[in-house]
Amino acid sequence: MPINGEDNEVNTSSNTTTTSSSNSTNAAPAFAPTLIEPGKETGKFRVYANAEEEEENNTTSSSSTFASVHNGPRNGKTSWAQGVRKHYELMRIHQTYDFVERMEKKWFTFDKAKLTIKEAFTLLDDYVDSADPDINVPNVIHALQTAEAIRAANKPEWMQLIGLIHDLGKLMCQWGTKEDGQGRRVDEPQYALGGDTWVVGCQLPDEAMVLPEFNKLNPDMQNPLYNTANGIYTPGCGIMNLKYAFGHDEYMYRMVIHNKCDKNFPHEALAILRLHSFYPWHTGNAYKQFEMEGDDKFLLAIRDFNQFDLYSKASEIPDMETLWPYYQGLIDKYVPGKLDW
Ligand SMILES: [Fe+2]
Ligand SMILES: [Fe+2]
Repeated sequence: MPINGEDNEVNTSSNTTTTSSSNSTNAAPAFAPTLIEPGKETGKFRVYANAEEEEENNTTSSSSTFASVHNGPRNGKTSWAQGVRKHYELMRIHQTYDFVERMEKKWFTFDKAKLTIKEAFTLLDDYVDSADPDINVPNVIHALQTAEAIRAANKPEWMQLIGLIHDLGKLMCQWGTKEDGQGRRVDEPQYALGGDTWVVGCQLPDEAMVLPEFNKLNPDMQNPLYNTANGIYTPGCGIMNLKYAFGHDEYMYRMVIHNKCDKNFPHEALAILRLHSFYPWHTGNAYKQFEMEGDDKFLLAIRDFNQFDLYSKASEIPDMETLWPYYQGLIDKYVPGKLDW
């Protein structure tokens, strides 16, 4: 796949992806994701311009995925997509402590590719997420919308950059398998890529989780080691010392550390990367027993970030050619050059 008009070689089918030339750092990206037009059927889904339009059309149709966890029960709306329900059912069934350990072994080698951030976006530009409110826009658009909303609110540069890269861990779909819940297509299982996370190794908190009726399907809940309030953890051990259902958050957090870019960020930034999908804690107020001193700072930062992530679904599509040089400047400062993926 050509990137930025250069003669790069990206092997998208093997386990290792390489690009042979270095990217110029300030050039605007040549990639231009194809947007799905509102009102069009695309594969199995109909795309609506916004949640209200979907509400008017058919809130219960299985062909609709616009409604999601984040504009479903969490804010009182009733519309639900069967696709999203299925996503969470599969997520609860498969995401056990052992599964997470297997995913960690598979992904934390970071030997799949060497890519710049821009190249990573290019590879992800046709990815559509089965559990995200921003279902009808390519990830790079959601990334820029989030970053721009943070920038418009005069938040620090590091937070703008985190807004840009926070979902980039979904690039695992490039090398993942549908058998592991990491399919690339929206009709393939993606339960190890996205969706609200939880702590594995202790009891699932029904009161703080989306679709808690699926909790009983989680095999760990039959295991006395894992099905108590504290499970394998000690109260007060700290939110960053827990193990989470595996997905793009954890991957991106570890990827930044692996590439030694963590030293460029404040600790809150890393907490946002890792825990922005951890709704049962940052929104549901569960797992309080594990908090330690300093976790309140993380909580505030994640809640602050979350408003831009959720509500950056602006109708305006950001002008990438104009904006990219600014963000490339931030990339060069915080996550520069070719990175191990
Ligand atoms: Fe995310
Ligand atoms: Fe996001």
